[in-house]
Amino acid sequence: MTSPTLKPQPFRSLSPAVMRASTVVFDSLADFARRKERQPDGYSYGITGTPTARELEHRIAALEGGAHCIVTPSGQSALMSTVMGFVRGGDHLLVSAACYGALKTFTQKWLAHFNVEVEMYAPAIGAEIEQLIRPNTRMICLESPGTVTMEMPDVPAVIAAAKRHDVMTMMDNTWASPLGFKPLEHGVDFSIEAATKFFGGHSDLLVGCISMNDSGYYATLRETQSILGQQTSPDDAFLVMRGLETLKVRYDAQSASTLTIAAALEQHPQVAKVLFPALPSDAGHAIWKRDFTGSGCLFSLILQPGPERSFNAFFDSLKHFAIGASWGGVHSLAAYYPAPLQADRPFSLTDQPIVRLSIGLEDTALLLADLTGALDAFRKARESAD
Ligand SMILES: Cc1ncc(COP(=O)(O)O)c(C=O)c1O
Repeated sequence: MTSPTLKPQPFRSLSPAVMRASTVVFDSLADFARRKERQPDGYSYGITGTPTARELEHRIAALEGGAHCIVTPSGQSALMSTVMGFVRGGDHLLVSAACYGALKTFTQKWLAHFNVEVEMYAPAIGAEIEQLIRPNTRMICLESPGTVTMEMPDVPAVIAAAKRHDVMTMMDNTWASPLGFKPLEHGVDFSIEAATKFFGGHSDLLVGCISMNDSGYYATLRETQSILGQQTSPDDAFLVMRGLETLKVRYDAQSASTLTIAAALEQHPQVAKVLFPALPSDAGHAIWKRDFTGSGCLFSLILQPGPERSFNAFFDSLKHFAIGASWGGVHSLAAYYPAPLQADRPFSLTDQPIVRLSIGLEDTALLLADLTGALDAFRKARESAD
């Protein structure tokens, strides 16, 4: 009960409020009738966002150095919505062969039915992309480094070619995060992150975001978001904001641990190749060093050739890595990408299986010992198979 002599204290929390809404209500009919005029920033119905989503969008735009941001229910929905917002039947779309798999599937299996010409290009491309640009090329989809195989495109060279031909560009920047690379500063039109990974950081949510500078693109994408029914739950938006509070310390700690582990594994006799542009031996190192300020927590390994059961032995031996396809969280993860997947990919990098590791916040020495034990199990299984 409030004492009659005490006025209620104004309440302000340090945390952003979680505001849930399907329905937004208005003070008058005149106000209701003008609700669409408040787009792309305002509120008209839950699908175009609540104050919780807007707060997250403002924070991400500031991180990316962009004027606008739109949050979506997953990284894949952010990638797909960006393409859907601007690419139409009759357009030509250039997609890196090492783009995130579901984006490739979406463009090849879905957009192709809508008369979009989808062309995969070599993931480590640079200025040569100009030769692939046609009069009807609408957009180039970039990812740096490529998913799983980690090839580094020369982003500034690709952007320069795209600008000469008035072609839009979007980049999946999830690996580096804006702490390691800021696509908008390099002239990319749309910087896309799976906030599911580093931003959230705790493997318990799915959110995506699209950041940009152009206000016209922003209005188009806000409308696309609503038409495609892509709104993010305020609870997940809140969790991403909580993740962002610790992003820099997590990123720095995980990056340092990852570099140590990747450099040590490179010396191991059971490891044929470490795919990680932050290592001087990597084919993309010069580009990484020139353009990036961070290397994150994700890298891949090609082990010495061995039968399937040697890979089972490797994974089954792991105690501190969970087996799972995601990454960017505080718990370490290991994932397996079989040989046929690699061999069948256009511009294939290898015909061997790939092991991908996401390094979390566990003790570096503990993780390294776990991996060394797994490589030992791998070696024994290889030898017993000989
Ligand atoms: C590089 C990259 N981009 C996008 C995505 C898709 O994110 P989400 O799982 O939130 O759809 C992933 C997910 O693994 C990813 O690794």
